[in-house]
Amino acid sequence: MDGVTLVDHPLVQHKLTIMRKKGTSTKQFRELLNEIGMLLCYEITRELPTTLIDIETPLAPMKAPEIEGKKLVFAPILRAGMAFLEGMLNLVPSARVAFIGLYRDPQTLKSIEYYFKAPEDIADRLVIVMDPMLATGNSSIAAVDMLKDRGVNNLRLMCLLAAPEGLKKFHEAHPDVHIWTAAIDDHLNDHGYIVPGLGDAGDRMFGTK
Ligand code: URA
Repeated sequence: MDGVTLVDHPLVQHKLTIMRKKGTSTKQFRELLNEIGMLLCYEITRELPTTLIDIETPLAPMKAPEIEGKKLVFAPILRAGMAFLEGMLNLVPSARVAFIGLYRDPQTLKSIEYYFKAPEDIADRLVIVMDPMLATGNSSIAAVDMLKDRGVNNLRLMCLLAAPEGLKKFHEAHPDVHIWTAAIDDHLNDHGYIVPGLGDAGDRMFGTK
């Protein structure tokens, strides 16, 4: 599918299978989401531009690659997006973080903004939006709208699971934003849940219901 990269690495797929199982504990679910966050981050940053800089090893001077430009921004959509964050920061410790508070109105399934806190110069940086469940697409669309309103134009979206309906809607709203996901599931049910999916990611991470 255009505009989507499916991360089908066996480690990611194996970990996702454990997360989908209904008996998986809250602790294990959170740990796995963290680990998959790291692996997805590795893929999403795969073709970042690098530039050669002059360094000296203990033996000789050389030109060696360094990632070009300003530090990345990781932008988790609260609350489920937070689970990706620790793993991603382990991989890219210098990244900045922008928090995006959105909740889903259970009746209309529309996204309501309640919090936004980001680095001042976010418009000059590559921003990776993290939304584990791309279901209706409403939260991701709203998050990207909020970032574009603040001048950001270099964006990528990272999810764990996507529904075909959410992918289509997101791409109609933001055709310029590429998506990385570990799986594309069958469909959305009437309550906006991904099927077969894994249930409510936030509830499974934090043991709420
Ligand atoms: N959010 C979730 O946590 N799960 C879904 O299936 C859809 C949205």
